[in-house]
Amino acid sequence: MKIATIVGARPQFIKAAVVSRAIQISNKKKKKIQEILVHTGQHYDYLMDKVFFEELDLPQPHYHLGVGSGSHGKQTGIMLERIEAVLQKEKPGAVLVYGDTNSTLAGALAAAKLNIPVAHVEAGLRSYNRRMPEEINRLLTDHLSTFLFCPTTQAVQNLLKEGIRDGKGKIVKNVGDVMYDSILYYSKIVEKKSTILRDLGLFKLKTQNSKLKTHNYYLATLHRAENTDDPKRLKSILKALNEIGKEAPVILPLHPRTKKVMKIYNLSPDNHRVKLIEPVSYLNMLTLEKYARAILTDSGGVQKEAYWFGVPCITLRDETEWVETVKSGWNVLVGAETKRIIQGVHEAMREILPRKAPNAFGNGKASGKIVDFLIKIR
Ligand code: UD1
Ligand code: UDP
Repeated sequence: MKIATIVGARPQFIKAAVVSRAIQISNKKKKKIQEILVHTGQHYDYLMDKVFFEELDLPQPHYHLGVGSGSHGKQTGIMLERIEAVLQKEKPGAVLVYGDTNSTLAGALAAAKLNIPVAHVEAGLRSYNRRMPEEINRLLTDHLSTFLFCPTTQAVQNLLKEGIRDGKGKIVKNVGDVMYDSILYYSKIVEKKSTILRDLGLFKLKTQNSKLKTHNYYLATLHRAENTDDPKRLKSILKALNEIGKEAPVILPLHPRTKKVMKIYNLSPDNHRVKLIEPVSYLNMLTLEKYARAILTDSGGVQKEAYWFGVPCITLRDETEWVETVKSGWNVLVGAETKRIIQGVHEAMREILPRKAPNAFGNGKASGKIVDFLIKIR
């Protein structure tokens, strides 16, 4: 069986690396899946792209479509045209797409129009906010898909509400979250491989509790269009980071989108309080997350990683797809208002003893389960 995997953006390299590894492991027993990797080129800076291929042993793409940046219509349209050409040539038995980016939608649409079954990893997520480009991408991709690999029971329920259920030609399964597989795999080696804490001069927090590994910094990430493309929201968030930075430095690996907008509006936080750094590799990111006092983010993936590491998360959004992290008390939605963000951090920090998060994201074997389903496709 030939599978074409479509990737293009940072979180997709991380997710695809886990499933690709599971395919290779399965093929060692008996070669059943030939994976053709197609990179749309949506992300292209070294630290948004190649670093993940190198660090996570993701095979080199068989096709690099070089699409690059652009408006939604233009970017998705060019991807659609180029992916279609690859699919016509390769004639895969299924197309595997991840998450909710423009690369996801283009891959799903190109395949569905050619009557090639679409397999969607991270199916069923909803923010119920259609102003988010990602929500449009997810909705359409799920409705085009034949195989819907959901990370949570909530995701399965979300699909049910839209009439998408297991049976009648569709496979809808809660397999767990491939990013949880990934964190379990890498968190064992992360300390050995990453020197980021030392490089940035970050040290352990002085506390009575010797078991507590927390270091004296906050970690922040910011890239969601609703925050970056609205200067009022962006300014308000940066103001909050400046305030939080009075207590402990805020480390902010800057997404290129945010960097660009900050330059346009000439926004720069106090560099003693908010340390702007280039995007970091996955292992460096996991290390920064693991030892942070708390994480402020608008990223989907980072919210979950905070939860899995048991680090308080303050989400700079008005809603989230990852409702389990909020229900458990580990994640708080604060939006973009300065006061509310600061208050959210203080509430989250009131109790910094190690806590356990109940696992709603499977048992770390999501990628193996996905491969077991893919093998059965005829
Ligand atoms: C995309 C996804 C988003 C995902 C994020 C992961 C869509 C609609 N959005 O958002 O869901 O959470 O990736 O990080 O698909 N840029 C560079 N270098 C790069 C990549 C981007 O400079 O390597 C800049 C360009 O100015 C570009 C802007 O960032 O216009 C936005 O990039 P784009 O891929 O369109 O969206 P993201 O914000 O990265
Ligand atoms: N990440 C990374 N380096 C960074 C920022 C994020 O490796 O500088 C990782 C992060 O650990 C997570 C994934 O990228 O695994 C999340 O991607 P992103 O925030 O870009 O997108 P989202 O999850 O919001 O779609």
